Amino acid sequence: MDNEQIAKTKIDRERMPRHVAIIMDGNGRWAKQHGLARMFGHRQGVETVHRITEAAAELGIRYLTLYAFSTENWNRPQQEVDALMELLVDTIAKETPTLMKNNIRLLTIGDLERLPKSAQDKFRLCMEQTAANTGLRLVIALSYSARWEMIRATQQIAREVQSGTLRTEDIDEAAIADRLTTHGMPDPDLLIRTSGELRISNFLLWQCAYSELYFTSCLWPDFTVEEFYKALIDYQGRERRFGKISEQLKTI
Ligand code: FPP
Repeated sequence: MDNEQIAKTKIDRERMPRHVAIIMDGNGRWAKQHGLARMFGHRQGVETVHRITEAAAELGIRYLTLYAFSTENWNRPQQEVDALMELLVDTIAKETPTLMKNNIRLLTIGDLERLPKSAQDKFRLCMEQTAANTGLRLVIALSYSARWEMIRATQQIAREVQSGTLRTEDIDEAAIADRLTTHGMPDPDLLIRTSGELRISNFLLWQCAYSELYFTSCLWPDFTVEEFYKALIDYQGRERRFGKISEQLKTI
């Protein structure tokens, strides 16, 4: 058995996280390390997306959310923004058969309207084509930031209160969660960030209130299935207390 297979045997299939979210970081640094232009790092990053998605589907994880393009990423040089958009669109078009083969449903969160029309169309088409798939939900965060989504939810709530369809006293956690772009999805159990940065960078701030955080220095293009398994094993070794004490958990 190789190291990947050994790691796989250590995963407890009964205690899988329902939702894993990943901040895929380090593509640019990977390219630099290899003396290549940044886009080569992003292209290599797509290979990692492919293998981690297949591994997650195979393990029966229900939701995998990938931070592909943040609201702040619009501020990168125009050439990189354009190339990233093209890469995202090409990847989605090319990978649709793989999604079908693995029974994976594609979803997006974020301000899809801000993407070029052709990109929006490709993503919508893939979402339609995979809509009946019942396995893993692959959620791509596109033009997403948690503060953007919270502002949007707050505006929505204000409008509903103003129009009399929502009472101020009925605004609770569920009311807010229902108006986020992740409505209907379970909160991430595990948030992974690659490349050694120890930040959440405006990703799923509401939803990650109780998520376990896992940071690895591995750059995203180098993130292997074995590394993914290691993150899951680490997660399974943790005690999730949700504000309670250890003894209370044992009585449940
Ligand atoms: C962060 O690395 C990565 C991104 C901003 C883009 C990630 C996108 C992909 C891997 C393509 C994903 C495709 C699909 C279909 C989901 P960085 O550029 O910030 O790296 P650096 O911090 O080393 O400069």
